[in-house]
Amino acid sequence: MTEPGVETATLYRQVGGRETVSAIVEAFYRRVESDEHLRPVYPEDLEPGKEKLKLFFEEWLGGPRAYSSKYGHPRLRRRHFPFVIDEKAAGRWLRYMREAWQEAGVDADTQAAVFGRLGPLARHMVNAGEDVPRGPLGNTFLQ
Ligand code: HEM
Repeated sequence: MTEPGVETATLYRQVGGRETVSAIVEAFYRRVESDEHLRPVYPEDLEPGKEKLKLFFEEWLGGPRAYSSKYGHPRLRRRHFPFVIDEKAAGRWLRYMREAWQEAGVDADTQAAVFGRLGPLARHMVNAGEDVPRGPLGNTFLQ
């Protein structure tokens, strides 16, 4: 995962900090909630994942490192193994994420910088048909 540096710290500021990150994640989850393919991939209670995604994005953009303090290394692909993610789910995830950043009013240059990384990351998360450990990880602290 990206170490916060000059570029990412700038991104966190550019995006608008905690308030905008929260608005993005809320807008994204509203879309997930009404998608018949993506919704079943997520657990029944969406709130804990929502909070984790907010903390993660803050850190990923160069903001406070609360996600790592609480949960350890993001190890995103590993953390997604309990959830079967196919190409279609990754495509929808990415589309809704784009719409959410747009809705939150993030400027086009910042969005371009962010999605240059998020696109490949979303495709990297596809694990359907792979023989990976599917057991729940919950809040496990990963090194
Ligand atoms: C490609 C499609 C993706 C799907 C279908 C997907 C789905 C999910 C699901 C079902 C969860 C569990 C939520 C919960 O426990 O309530 C989750 C957690 C999470 N996702 Fe994704 N995800 C995708 C891509 C991504 C990407 C690209 C990122 C990062 C940029 C990301 C970041 C996270 C984070 C940080 C968590 C919380 C992990 C934890 O600490 O447990 N996801 N995701």
